[in-house]
Amino acid sequence: MSEQSKPFLYVVVCAAGGADGVGRLVTAARERGWEVGVIATPQGLGFIDEGAVEALTGRPVRSAWRAPGEPRPFPPADAIAVAPATFNTVNKWAAGIADTLAVATLCEAYGAGVPTAVLPSVSPALAAHPAYRQSIERLRGMGVLVGGGSGPFRWEEALELLAGAGLPVTGPRRGSGERGSGAPG
Ligand SMILES: Cc1cc2nc3c(=O)[nH]c(=O)nc-3n(C[C@H](O)[C@H](O)[C@H](O)COP(=O)(O)O)c2cc1C
Repeated sequence: MSEQSKPFLYVVVCAAGGADGVGRLVTAARERGWEVGVIATPQGLGFIDEGAVEALTGRPVRSAWRAPGEPRPFPPADAIAVAPATFNTVNKWAAGIADTLAVATLCEAYGAGVPTAVLPSVSPALAAHPAYRQSIERLRGMGVLVGGGSGPFRWEEALELLAGAGLPVTGPRRGSGERGSGAPG
């Protein structure tokens, strides 16, 4: 299979403890046949080893919007894994507050029909907030695959959720006309 024919996974990484392990998700995804691009929240950038992630994906880590007229740095997404997802990003995503490239990408993924899995990393005290519970409920209603439970955080769970939805789908990647742009930035 040529590199071009591989399905493309966006990994959205937020500013949560443990985010520095995102290379594990990238590696596991690549082993399962995905090509991967990482989008970090601006705060999340400080939680990862950008150079190490770029070495794994072969692409720049994105965090800011491209300049007008610049080509889109990533191909359209066939699926998105959000891990780890913070309280902040989950609530903004559900509310449609697209003030970072990461959240804007997630907001657009709904309309574009891009399958999305999320692994929240949120303390019990924050998770008890009524806004958070409503956000998770709204995301589930949007078709988002929500993982992360009471057990230890498992990066691979994001891929298992997508696999349960029949992904990755091998063969030529869908064109942007079928999937939406996949990236507002
Ligand atoms: C060391 C450290 C660990 C953090 N871990 C978490 C976490 O696990 N979950 C969470 O929701 N916020 C966590 N935060 C707070 C977020 O970083 C903060 O809310 C940030 O604004 C989230 O930005 P983002 O959602 O754009 O990534 C942590 C902050 C620090 C300094």
